[in-house]
Amino acid sequence: MNKLTDTTINLFIDELDKFGVGISLIKNNNVYFVPYTLPGERVKAKIMNKFKSKVYCSNLEILENSSERSNNTCEHFTKCGGCLLQHWQYENYKHWKFNLIKQPLIKLNPNIETLDMISAKNNSRRRAKFFLKQGNNSCKLGFKKYKSETLININNCFIIDSEIIELMTEIKNAFNKSFLTTEILVFHVNKLDYGLDILIQTNKSLRINDLINIFKNFKSNIISIHLQENNQNPELILFYNKNKLNFGECNVYGLIPPAGFFQATKIAENQLIKNILNEIGIKNDYVLDLYSGSGTFTLPLLKNGYKVYAIDKNKTSIESLIKSSKEQNLFNNFKYNISNLTKGKIETHFFQNFDVVILDPPRAGAIVQVTSLGKSKVKKIIYISCNIQTFLRDSQILLSHGYKIKYILPIDQFLYTSHLEIFSVFEIFN
Ligand SMILES: C[S@@+](CC[C@H](N)C(=O)[O-])C[C@H]1O[C@@H](n2cnc3c(N)ncnc32)[C@H](O)[C@@H]1O
Repeated sequence: MNKLTDTTINLFIDELDKFGVGISLIKNNNVYFVPYTLPGERVKAKIMNKFKSKVYCSNLEILENSSERSNNTCEHFTKCGGCLLQHWQYENYKHWKFNLIKQPLIKLNPNIETLDMISAKNNSRRRAKFFLKQGNNSCKLGFKKYKSETLININNCFIIDSEIIELMTEIKNAFNKSFLTTEILVFHVNKLDYGLDILIQTNKSLRINDLINIFKNFKSNIISIHLQENNQNPELILFYNKNKLNFGECNVYGLIPPAGFFQATKIAENQLIKNILNEIGIKNDYVLDLYSGSGTFTLPLLKNGYKVYAIDKNKTSIESLIKSSKEQNLFNNFKYNISNLTKGKIETHFFQNFDVVILDPPRAGAIVQVTSLGKSKVKKIIYISCNIQTFLRDSQILLSHGYKIKYILPIDQFLYTSHLEIFSVFEIFN
């Protein structure tokens, strides 16, 4: 253990880093990181960890408050690691978040048009992952502490949809009364159109009948419960499977697999689909949807008469896309492939089959694909990203191949965090 660890230190916070953590710039050649602070504050901090010149601290006490500090925080804020920035007055937080994308774009090219940021509302997040740990006479249910494995018991949350919060309360009450296991249970809950879809993961086998008994009299509107033991395939253990989700305002639905991906908020889903459809004007355009998931963009495009080729590495998602497109008579204009886009580079001539390419990669971005895509000179690329850093990296490659950014739309669907959804349109004029 480092000599510094556990010592207490007073610090002045100069600024926030790109993750929203306060930093005190230089003191004895070190940079100090203190969460839950704001620029201009003086704080008492405890040193937790040191790596080279970076010193990571916990926040013991705010000695001098910033005038921008807000007291409107949730009862679990600073204990639960979900939110990092509730302590900032909302308008200041919003300004900072917009600038996470705006400032680097200005450096890239001051003429890029960035539209006003669209923000999700509190309690609009419709996907949640939480943990449950039973003791002999009690049970804890909640989220992990910031940068820690410690489970924090949660009664309420600013972010998550209220139906999911009610379900969490019901689960906690039920597991308080009936003992099942000392293993940690991981719950993934998706709020779909007909109700709540639940996946429970565990590293040990459970007594399924006991589990069913716990859930069978729940008041929450549960549509299905799957159990996944030891990384085996999830098994449907309860209720009728109605895992439909209407995408956008297009009268078309997808089928979301247990714990499967879909956009975290409805406002972001609607905006992304609306902007895609606005951009792809001409009927018969052939669209490549890379990282398609279960078809958030593919299905509305098919429904609107476009031909779509979808690629994702997740077999279950593509299978659900095949099923939903068949059920809605949209399969004729649909092609698909299950591929790992991090491993296999798509050749430039394949991209040239398409009028528009959509990319919606995970946080790691699409570095393996963008060079070949840039060379293709496909007339329009729509890049949707949830990571500013990888987005800027990949954008630079597209710009270096002659593309111009038509506009950027930031969507704050990850409230009180440094994560931002970015919708962008790249065009090339030969
Ligand atoms: C941000 S989600 C977008 C999904 C979809 N566009 C939507 O909006 O619902 C990213 C998708 O990338 C897929 N994915 C992750 N890594 C991948 C890889 N290496 N190759 C191909 N697909 C990948 C995931 O399965 C997931 O469906």
